[in-house]
Amino acid sequence: MINLKNKSILIPGGNGFLGTFLVQYLRKIGCREIFVPRSKDYDLVQMEFVKKVYDDAKPDIVIHLAAKVGGIGANRDNPGKFFYDNLLMGAQLMEIGRQKGIEKFVTIGTICSYPKFVPVPFKEEDIWNGYPDETNAPYGLAKKMLLVQSQSYRQQYGFNSINLILANLYGPGDNFDPITSHVIPALIKKCIDARCKGAKKITVWGRGNSTREFIYIQDAVRGIVLATQQYNKSDPVNLGTGIEISIKDLVDLIVKLTGFKGKVIWDSSKPEGQPRRCVDTKKALKEFGFKANTKFKDGLKEVIRWYREKTQLL
Ligand SMILES: NC(=O)c1ccc[n+]([C@@H]2O[C@H](COP(=O)([O-])OP(=O)(O)OC[C@H]3O[C@@H](n4cnc5c(N)ncnc54)[C@H](OP(=O)(O)O)[C@@H]3O)[C@@H](O)[C@H]2O)c1
Repeated sequence: MINLKNKSILIPGGNGFLGTFLVQYLRKIGCREIFVPRSKDYDLVQMEFVKKVYDDAKPDIVIHLAAKVGGIGANRDNPGKFFYDNLLMGAQLMEIGRQKGIEKFVTIGTICSYPKFVPVPFKEEDIWNGYPDETNAPYGLAKKMLLVQSQSYRQQYGFNSINLILANLYGPGDNFDPITSHVIPALIKKCIDARCKGAKKITVWGRGNSTREFIYIQDAVRGIVLATQQYNKSDPVNLGTGIEISIKDLVDLIVKLTGFKGKVIWDSSKPEGQPRRCVDTKKALKEFGFKANTKFKDGLKEVIRWYREKTQLL
């Protein structure tokens, strides 16, 4: 078990949605040496800044969260950028970490790396059994290359890196920008905006048949920290809840929790993404004792409360 309190920890992407909660949690458990590079100072797509960040931070451990991410719309509009930036940031950070001889490198992967059609719940050993859904394949595959890098570096150099595969996140502080947001903040914003404007309907992408799984941000953070402390293999591990919900049921729930009384119009001309998504969570429990414990409805209420407070709407 690694005692993180005594370690210098570099967290690329530590100012983002997940990173903000991770840094808070690490500080709470006593970590003092945490270095969070901002993209305006260290563009980690450029090798010179990757080298510079290692020189400046002198880390023992890297928890790599920096990424270009977004919902279906953002992925559809930026497939090249999402592929290139995510691949280069990860590959270069891991390579320089290896050259510097750091103690451990933690990569945050994504459920978008799983094949489009694979038995549900997704088991880690099925991750290579097909091509991901076309809507997010460039992003999912770029991140999956870091799994190959992690495994090959362990084999050739004995480098300790791990790869955690995260289900979709949700929580307070999420990205509510309608162009780049994921489905939960997008729906909350639509319902609350519609209520504020007295609109009688909202329009939602797809038909509602696809399913998703969501992990509350604080559960995800706890899982990442447990794995950083205790897990030292390059076989990927899912971090999720194992609970699947259809988009139709998700919309009904958010409509109810936000108090929107109008009609929901389904725009079937818009893409729905992967048909089903839900991960098997047994390995995380077995390997480092992780189990998510936030009830979905409680988590959603908390996000809605946070969004109302932040925007002062309703
Ligand atoms: N959100 C989800 O549902 C989800 C699900 C599965 C996996 N993940 C993974 O979890 C990690 C964190 O996601 P998130 O939702 O917290 O994303 P986020 O809020 O968009 O944060 C990403 C961070 O990456 C940094 N970044 C982007 N481009 C960079 C560059 N060229 N150089 C340096 N830093 C750069 C940004 O730093 P600045 O703020 O300084 O610009 C930003 O804070 C990612 O690896 C993502 O793939 C997320």
